[in-house]
Amino acid sequence: MPPATAVELTGITKRFPGVIANDDVHIRVAEGEIHAVVGENGAGKSTLMKILYGMLVPDEGQMTVGGEVVSFSSPGEAIDRGIGMVHQHFMLADNLTVMENVILGAEPLRRGAIDLDAARASLEKLGASYGLDIHPDDMVETLEVGERQRVEIIKVLYRGARILILDEPTAVLVPQEVEELFRNLRELKAQGHTIIFIDHKLTEVLAIADTITVLRAGRTVTTVDAGDVTAQELAELMIGGDLPSPSTTTHQIDDHVTLSLAGVTVTGDDQREALSDVDLAIHRGEILGVAGVEGNGQGELIEAILGLRQLAGGSLTFNGEDISEWPVRRRRESGIGYVPEDRHRRGLLLDAPLWENAMLGHQTVEPFAKGSLIDRAGARNATEAIVSRFDIRTPGIDTTARSLSGGNQQKLVIGREIAANPLLLIAAHPTRGIDVGAQAAVWEELRRVRTKGLSVLLISADLHELIGLADRLVVMLGGKVVAELDPADTTPRLLGSHMTGADVENGEPAQ
Ligand SMILES: Nc1ncnc2c1ncn2[C@@H]1O[C@H](COP(=O)(O)OP(=O)(O)OP(=O)(O)O)[C@@H](O)[C@H]1O
Ligand SMILES: [Mg+2]
Repeated sequence: MPPATAVELTGITKRFPGVIANDDVHIRVAEGEIHAVVGENGAGKSTLMKILYGMLVPDEGQMTVGGEVVSFSSPGEAIDRGIGMVHQHFMLADNLTVMENVILGAEPLRRGAIDLDAARASLEKLGASYGLDIHPDDMVETLEVGERQRVEIIKVLYRGARILILDEPTAVLVPQEVEELFRNLRELKAQGHTIIFIDHKLTEVLAIADTITVLRAGRTVTTVDAGDVTAQELAELMIGGDLPSPSTTTHQIDDHVTLSLAGVTVTGDDQREALSDVDLAIHRGEILGVAGVEGNGQGELIEAILGLRQLAGGSLTFNGEDISEWPVRRRRESGIGYVPEDRHRRGLLLDAPLWENAMLGHQTVEPFAKGSLIDRAGARNATEAIVSRFDIRTPGIDTTARSLSGGNQQKLVIGREIAANPLLLIAAHPTRGIDVGAQAAVWEELRRVRTKGLSVLLISADLHELIGLADRLVVMLGGKVVAELDPADTTPRLLGSHMTGADVENGEPAQ
């Protein structure tokens, strides 16, 4: 007997102004399976999941949960049916503790008061039974992304979800964290939960999913068993054609040093040394890749270069000038571009139109300004150019950034920063959340501007991206640069062992 159907969506159509996000979509998810939804940026994946979770009401179509027809007008109604969702962009309140976040809106009451002991006990029990490592009293703002995600998952389980939707859960994780997440998901599956998740990394999809549904331009292409397809076939189903093949142009790295750090030491938020005596140089036309497990000083490195964090020692030289004391704005204006790790917190004004977002940080210079005035026409033209060069899928430049799909928001940030022609681009996880086709296009673009002399500091959790794109690699561990490698003879495994401080020769942890 085939497994029962957990949820089925039939003939789902959802229109937004100028876009049909879902167009007669069909998806059936069996009970107890791990079901992946894949597709290009803007294909309609998040929209479909938000419909299932009651955040959006479809214009047409039918949903069943456990064989019963349902229609949700709010997430609360989906939760009552045992459906929970972890969003593409986390939604935790920073200034509350883990426990407060989890129980928010579902507080256990005892004689009219919130029963914190009961809450703590059930949190700890949930964590233990699924192997989800969390600390109820930590402040959410102090957590790393992997921990935040576990809190989101616990929050959903705490509300009794049997069907979990995860929108790009691995996008923000480093490989070790992905493995941990997958262990957690397998455990959830073993205990009878159904999991629906979105992921752009097709090798991950094939590693964890039982079944895969492919969407393209709002429509269902097919549903396949994970055992029956390769990553290449999946990519071609998504794109509806062949993947672009990478260019093999060689180029010359200059002697000219764009940025150098000499003995840079900075103090972290916890008052300990977050960067210790770091020496680095990035040449003109060079992509320097920085590998490291998250939290080993990469964030502080970026902040130090941008001027968001003062140096406790050492100096920074940019294009021949000592910029150690320069304010952030002067550094940016002198040619430092920045693609931030968190596009929502640092990269975009979500409720502003695309053309205003395209000039963020550049609103005082051409083509966005003439003298001291904003040049509306110039800004609009420049935005149109970014949209077409980076293939940002949008009905127009007056659309708000919020209404773009996640990957298209990311393309907007990258496009803005590259189009400003910086001398140095700091790119933190530039292709996070971007589909395979668009990722190849962004890589091409970075290679192209590099051959024209741009220097790139590439921080990425994607080891294939680091090895494939960088001209030179350094590894950060405990706030220090612990290794320098040539990507040509580096494997993800070798890189991984440097990142964790394992003895590369013997595969044993170092002292
Ligand atoms: N609230 C909204 N208002 C207007 N348009 C929207 C809204 N939400 C989504 N869209 C549009 O619907 C389409 C599908 O978006 P969706 O977020 O579902 O894509 P996605 O497959 O999740 O993409 P990604 O991989 O980039 O996250 C896109 O063209 C997007 O711009
Ligand atoms: Mg999405």
